Amino acid sequence: SETVTRDADGVLTVGGIDVKRLAEEYGTPAYVLDEDDFRSRARAWRTAFGEDADVFYAGKAFLSRAVVRWLHEEGLNLDVCSGGELATALSAGMPAERIAFHGNNKSVAEIRRAVEAGVGRIVLDSFQEIVRVAHIARELGVRQRAQIRITVGVEAHTHEFIATAHEDQKFGIPLAGGQAAEAVRRALQLDGLELIGIHSHIGSQIFDMSGFEVAAHRVVGLLKDIRDEHGVELPEIDLGGGLGIAYTSDDDPREPHEIAKALTEIVTRECEAAKLRTPRISVEPGRAIVGPTAFTLYEVGTVKPLDGLRTYVSVDGGMSDNIRTALYDAEYSVSLVSRSSDAAPMLTRVVGKHCESGDIVVKDAFLPGDLAPGDLIAVPATGAYCRSMASNYNHVLRPPVVAVKGGQARVIVRRETEEDLLRLDVG
Ligand code: LLP
Repeated sequence: SETVTRDADGVLTVGGIDVKRLAEEYGTPAYVLDEDDFRSRARAWRTAFGEDADVFYAGKAFLSRAVVRWLHEEGLNLDVCSGGELATALSAGMPAERIAFHGNNKSVAEIRRAVEAGVGRIVLDSFQEIVRVAHIARELGVRQRAQIRITVGVEAHTHEFIATAHEDQKFGIPLAGGQAAEAVRRALQLDGLELIGIHSHIGSQIFDMSGFEVAAHRVVGLLKDIRDEHGVELPEIDLGGGLGIAYTSDDDPREPHEIAKALTEIVTRECEAAKLRTPRISVEPGRAIVGPTAFTLYEVGTVKPLDGLRTYVSVDGGMSDNIRTALYDAEYSVSLVSRSSDAAPMLTRVVGKHCESGDIVVKDAFLPGDLAPGDLIAVPATGAYCRSMASNYNHVLRPPVVAVKGGQARVIVRRETEEDLLRLDVG
């Protein structure tokens, strides 16, 4: 981000604070999150989409109460997908009507809590859930605003585990075979529901806009069928999240205003062709907002050269704070941040401290040949799906999230302690 620089000794400075000070004060590993960067990315999305559209930040990427407050202040809405995320959002004061509730298997208790709180929308994911939510809403004497999530049959060009629009998978109701149309038919009949729109999320870490074009085309096609069959024009469509970020210099992400322009144009064009009123568009970016705003700061513990192969650099965290390399073969970069070095680069693999050989943070990385225990290294772009997917594997304690801004640092999620760990162990 713009606030990341190097001082005269080559020490990385972020938000006006150098990483050596951060390491001394907060320990390592730590996620260091640049608040101004987060806010300006959130604002860029908000501005790009304007008043006629809504931006729902996808909380699964990273959620904490501070983040909820920043989003609220910047005018964004929030997508949650569990009772825990809902509780975090509500406890930090996000107005319920600005929350969307997702998930393919929301429990009855979660649905009841969301309806009672008055969430702005529930995204219905199955035929059974349509009935379940309608029933709970009726019991509570309300009409719940809802969207139906459909799968449009697009192959998003991304890792299989994070692609979600092809039909053979657990999310959504297939457009194919008239199933989505049937879901709409049922939802429109239930007086516990107010069907406000159709939802599609095609996958994550996507750079190519063509998948969104096909999705928008098919969603609008369904809106047209609904109008023709029921005489109802649903007022909203949600095109999900999934916009890619630069993990390494090979990635070339699109800017929010380009994305907004492209999506708005497609939807408007398709609706004009179908003689439909243009629905209100919403999107759900997670990674594109928070991903680039944080890096993980590690201390080097051991440096092990293996003759003719490479050098293994072990850090004080690993797959428990970043599972993405092991899970998706994700690519990251890394650099020495506590000093400068003129030493020739060496080929390394940055690995964690877990008892597993797949515990890799950065698979292939060049680091200075004089790298030594005690050096600090940083892995950028770990704001999304790292802290939120962190585990306690090997009873390793989850790192804190330290927010920096204007020369000040503050912990927004504290480091886990052995006491935290043992508190749950009541046997
Ligand atoms: N909306 C829905 C309905 C989603 O399922 C997701 C992500 C998003 C929005 C936000 O997607 P984003 O803009 O952050 O790509 N753990 C994986 C990513 C899984 C994403 C799941 N759903 C990873 O680390 O890459």
